[in-house]
Amino acid sequence: MTEHKNLRMVRQAHHPSNHPERSRGAYELTNYNGVIERYKQYLPVTDKTPIITLKEGNTPLIYANYLSKLMGRNFEVYLKYEGLNPTGSFKDRGMTMAISKACEERVTAVMCASTGNTSASAAAYAAKAGIKCIVLIPAGAIALGKLSQALIHGAVVLAVDGNFDAALDLAREITNKYPITLVNSLNPYRIEGQKTASFEICDTLGKAPDFQVMPVGNAGNITAYWKGYKEYKEKGKINKLPLMLGFQAELAAPIVRGYPIKNPRTIATAIRIGNPASWKQAEKARDESGGLIDMVSDKQIIEAYKLLAAKEGVFVEPASAASVAGLLKLARKKYFNLRTCKLANLRTKIVCILTGHGLKDPDRAIKSIKEPRLVKANLKAVLKEIGY
Ligand SMILES: Cc1ncc(COP(=O)(O)O)c(C=O)c1O
Repeated sequence: MTEHKNLRMVRQAHHPSNHPERSRGAYELTNYNGVIERYKQYLPVTDKTPIITLKEGNTPLIYANYLSKLMGRNFEVYLKYEGLNPTGSFKDRGMTMAISKACEERVTAVMCASTGNTSASAAAYAAKAGIKCIVLIPAGAIALGKLSQALIHGAVVLAVDGNFDAALDLAREITNKYPITLVNSLNPYRIEGQKTASFEICDTLGKAPDFQVMPVGNAGNITAYWKGYKEYKEKGKINKLPLMLGFQAELAAPIVRGYPIKNPRTIATAIRIGNPASWKQAEKARDESGGLIDMVSDKQIIEAYKLLAAKEGVFVEPASAASVAGLLKLARKKYFNLRTCKLANLRTKIVCILTGHGLKDPDRAIKSIKEPRLVKANLKAVLKEIGY
């Protein structure tokens, strides 16, 4: 069978009229069919676009009791838990768009450079679409969980002897020369899909938050969120925009320092990026919103990582904890108190974006905990240990 015939069959299988759950009607447990279907009026899709979805999006906005209390009675802190997307990170929102459009354009192969999550997502959506996925990763710098995802989904994974920035340069060059589509966040459809997260936040809160706090790596996500908020405001869905607060890791903070970092270092591998592709757009989001882009140390990231798990019951990967580390850093500086007076808002709403699931990086979790104590297999020994 030719590649094109193959692709036609895939497209037919994904056409809305052939959607098994849709046609089953009464057996359907939920009407939710992913971000493209929910927000198609805001996305560059037509009836001809084959929707490749794993029902991404619709992630919970969790009220953070502990953090809200810590911030004081005039604050409400929410956690947008993007780790609950199908492949465990926010990348799925952009990937459903990028892969659907690639299929619409009859592309048979996609490629990305990745610190892990993009590759996991690209590999899963390419598998669903029946197309080839090629991944370039910086050798030795990918969390185990993410690498295993890309491999189990059947992607061709090549470890490049260099950092993420070198891998991205290679992916850009190859996809410029060969009929392979780049699915990094430089692909505009990725940004389109990812902006749906701001729509969800506004739809849940009934308005935009006052502040949004998030990690910044290659800066595609902050670009996407800001685009989403601005579009919702233009359409009259919200009447006020949030302040965008981005956080990089201290030794991988090119935007904060104002120059590219040759050898970025942080335990938060997802944001170990020295020369962000969407640098300018990130600065635009910061400046247009009146927000900031600052940095947090690995120690602060790990503290926030443990706090989220132990006090809020939410397990994230280290890069995601940079948002809460940033929240706590700014709170210590009384940043919010000063701002909120200006906003004259009774209860200030702060949303922290938790970009990826904790199970992505099991090594980090294991390094952060004490191993369980060994006890004798008898009642007396167990009761003694638990204080009864
Ligand atoms: C878990 C996680 N958090 C944050 C980021 C940073 O997002 P961006 O590169 O769009 O700034 C990434 C990117 O790989 C990620 O995987």
